[in-house]
Amino acid sequence: MAGEQGFTIWFTGLSGAGKTTISHIVSDELTDRGSKLEILDGDVVRENLSKGLGFSKEDRDTNIRRIAFVADLLSRNDVPVITAAISPYRDIRDEARAMMGDRFIEVYVEASVDACAERDVKGLYKKAFAGEIKEFTGVSDPYEEPLNPEVVLKTEEESPEESAAKLIAYLEERDLIPAKG
Ligand code: ADX
Repeated sequence: MAGEQGFTIWFTGLSGAGKTTISHIVSDELTDRGSKLEILDGDVVRENLSKGLGFSKEDRDTNIRRIAFVADLLSRNDVPVITAAISPYRDIRDEARAMMGDRFIEVYVEASVDACAERDVKGLYKKAFAGEIKEFTGVSDPYEEPLNPEVVLKTEEESPEESAAKLIAYLEERDLIPAKG
């Protein structure tokens, strides 16, 4: 039955691209439909499961592998998951895909560095451009775009609600979530 199987919606994109905002809208919608969902958000995970990790490639890889490990545990037990971490490196995202197979749905939350820096919700881009934060993704550290994501959300053109609706339509099409109402 739709909505009784686990899957992992793997958001990837720059800081400020909209991953967290969209994850909450999708979560509210799934909850309304009586579906379970857990969110593994980068900022939240870094306060507990990944506390103490920094932003070197090694630490980011460790962070992402931990998130993938938990997402796999949950999704294989039929709990849908959204992960919302930058996850800048393609090889580690592909590792997560290999682990979860068909349960893995890569979603590129696409916004340019300029757009994210313009939003600068947390004031981090200003600091990164001033050289006060080292290894900042998109500014002084790499971001590797996904090559074949299942879904692309263009947050410079779409509102967060529109992006969330696009993703929900994709999940409905794949019969992964219960229909509305
Ligand atoms: S990831 O690269 O390991 O996937 P993650 O999503 O967990 O990153 O954390 C990113 C968040 O940490 C950003 O949204 C931002 O708030 C904060 N942050 C602090 N320093 C950096 C940095 N050097 N690069 C990117 N994000 C940073």
